[in-house]
Amino acid sequence: MKKQFLHFFTMLFISMMILSCTKKEETTTLVATNPTLYEQVGGTTMVDDPNNPGTMIEKGRLTLRAVVDSSILVIAADPQMTKYFPVLFSELGTGNTTGLMALSKSFTDFMCSATGCKNSAYAYTGMNMKDAHDPAKNKRMGMKADKADFDKFVGNIGTGLAKNGVNSTNAKKLVDDLVALLYTTESAIVQR
Ligand code: HEM
Repeated sequence: MKKQFLHFFTMLFISMMILSCTKKEETTTLVATNPTLYEQVGGTTMVDDPNNPGTMIEKGRLTLRAVVDSSILVIAADPQMTKYFPVLFSELGTGNTTGLMALSKSFTDFMCSATGCKNSAYAYTGMNMKDAHDPAKNKRMGMKADKADFDKFVGNIGTGLAKNGVNSTNAKKLVDDLVALLYTTESAIVQR
């Protein structure tokens, strides 16, 4: 009887060891086959920066900057968005692009940081999402955003993605993941 018990516990111990090893391997594999969104859009591979000849840029940032710039154009052309950007549009009306350049950089930094970029040169240093979208804290924000306009804004970024070759037909999961990431900001940004 004692021997049987000993045998049972030895087998139990061996089974637990095997299980714990298998689990560790699964975790490693999961991490290895689960690249960050930043890696999926190009990652840290250095490429020529078409906007700044003679300088290099990470491919991930280049993709995100292109998406942000396309999206800003889509948003600027959307009459539903006009009321939110009075300062930016009045600057542009006088040919002043300083605010536009700052928004492009800031939004791109935000997207890099949010998608998992580790390069400190691309880190987001702007206002938190709540303050950035509160007209009392950010005078460039024309009024508080509502849910319908938030949805439209994200749709405009979807159009920006598609303009850069990322769409639901060729990269459904990537589009879904990026949209889901944008929706993590909804409760901070929708303030009316
Ligand atoms: C979908 C998620 C959104 C993200 C990730 C986002 C991100 C940002 C970022 C990073 C800034 C710059 C903040 C800074 O530099 O301190 C910004 C500014 C701004 N955002 Fe958003 N935003 C989002 C949605 C919206 C929506 C829904 C609206 C309005 C409907 C909006 C309107 C604005 C305006 C008016 C500014 C100031 C623009 C300027 O500089 O003139 N954003 N946003």
